[in-house]
Amino acid sequence: MRIIKTIAQTKRLIERVKKSGKTIGFVPTMGYLHEGHLSLVRIARRKSQFVVVSIFVNPTQFGPSEDLAKYPQDMKRDAALLKKENVDLIFYPSVNEIYPPDYKTYVYVKELSRLMCGITRPHHFQGVTTVVLNLFNIVKPDIAVFGAKDYQQGVIIKRMTKDLNLDIKIVLGKIIREKDGLAMSSRNIYLSPRHRKNAIVLYQAVRRIRHDFRQGFSDPKRAKTMMRQMIEKKNGRIDYIAVVNKNTLSPVKKLGAGTLIALAVFFGKTRLIDNTIL
Ligand code: PAF
Repeated sequence: MRIIKTIAQTKRLIERVKKSGKTIGFVPTMGYLHEGHLSLVRIARRKSQFVVVSIFVNPTQFGPSEDLAKYPQDMKRDAALLKKENVDLIFYPSVNEIYPPDYKTYVYVKELSRLMCGITRPHHFQGVTTVVLNLFNIVKPDIAVFGAKDYQQGVIIKRMTKDLNLDIKIVLGKIIREKDGLAMSSRNIYLSPRHRKNAIVLYQAVRRIRHDFRQGFSDPKRAKTMMRQMIEKKNGRIDYIAVVNKNTLSPVKKLGAGTLIALAVFFGKTRLIDNTIL
């Protein structure tokens, strides 16, 4: 496994890999890896012959009052985990490498970037699409794998890939959960023991709606109220609860197959997201 920090060296290696006829699978990450990331790496490993993982805490997707400065990092541990997964290359650039001082270009997917997480994080998805397109241009993958926990991000990246005619297959790996149901996230380490315990309610809330939907329940307004009540009982501060079409992200009038239930909730200062598709 190689670890490369520069764009020029990575491009040279990628050119050699392409010439050898191997397909490239790519998993972009911000590091501090957990089982959720590793499950994405395994998908890339199964579906391609040369696997690249990027580790880059992307400053442009954080708002001014967000956790960029304290975002957890542990490159040594990450590298050891990725070696075990047979990853071929870790691309580990500095901020200056990706955003040199004269950097000026941003990529923005209209409308979809303004909904849900985009309401309280108005620049977040522009930061994501900008860095992801940049990474795609460096790594030139055949497939790229993202986590379904960030479902909206997946929809936006698929849209960008289609609109800009990138010949990259975007795959969403399923949400990986802790034993008690909490979706795995690098940010879970911020939670105090009390908040960690209460945060399970996110999974319980989406599971409750799935269950009721199977019993014939179909009212989105009532679904939101039920989830709100469950979450507020556990002292979660709701950013949003969305009951939307999984492709357009627009609100549905009735729950149905393909409805996305998505939540963003603060426990203390930590903002967690979760979702399910009916
Ligand atoms: O999902 C993430 O970890 C990040 O948003 C990504 C895709 C690596 C871009 O920085």
